[in-house]
Amino acid sequence: MKFFVDTADIDEIRDLAATGLLDGVTTNPSLVAKTGRDFFEVLNDICAVVDGPVSAEVAATDVDAMVTEGRKLAEIADNITVKVPLIWDGLKACRALTQAGVLVNVTLCFSPSQAVLAAKAGASFVSPFVGRLDDISHDGMELIEDIRTIYDNYPNFTTEILVASVRHPGHVVEAARLGADICTIPPDVLRLLAKHPLTDRGLETFLNDWQSTGQSILKT
Ligand code: E4P
Repeated sequence: MKFFVDTADIDEIRDLAATGLLDGVTTNPSLVAKTGRDFFEVLNDICAVVDGPVSAEVAATDVDAMVTEGRKLAEIADNITVKVPLIWDGLKACRALTQAGVLVNVTLCFSPSQAVLAAKAGASFVSPFVGRLDDISHDGMELIEDIRTIYDNYPNFTTEILVASVRHPGHVVEAARLGADICTIPPDVLRLLAKHPLTDRGLETFLNDWQSTGQSILKT
């Protein structure tokens, strides 16, 4: 399973990229707005740090403008992935950009039927938002299960399932269990994946016991 980080904060991205665990980045207009920085500067900084796909979202909603914006974003770096919303014009833009050799992430997917359309439009990635479905008392992970089942029925669908709107480590574990290709994870949730109270308690005990031996591994 690949891990993308869901942020436009370059400091967080640098820190997490240094672990070698990061396969890509997703941004969206809200995440960019949160930085208070220029969109193109942010994307240039991210692409200088991360080799994998970096999602940058269009702001237009009609097909021609989306394609024009998408082409401009794609000029930033080879690993830019143009994000388009899952609306009819977004699907048409996805088809046009894909045919022009641009990676496309179809975002704001909330149903299996939408995911089928994204695959048929040739998207490189489809982003189902699990957390936002959970927020309205739907089961976000059920959508992932449905999309996985459907895509596996059709080997000519090459679209990767990019689980988005991840809110806690349980979402990541469940996505992995269901065979999702990628999770895009907020930085704090990514760090939480390594946490377990028994790990902390066990380490504390080991270190105390080691100290009581008076030995040093480097001084023998
Ligand atoms: C995905 O690409 C989106 O940026 C993101 O996962 C949305 O998550 P949210 O529902 O926490 O805003």
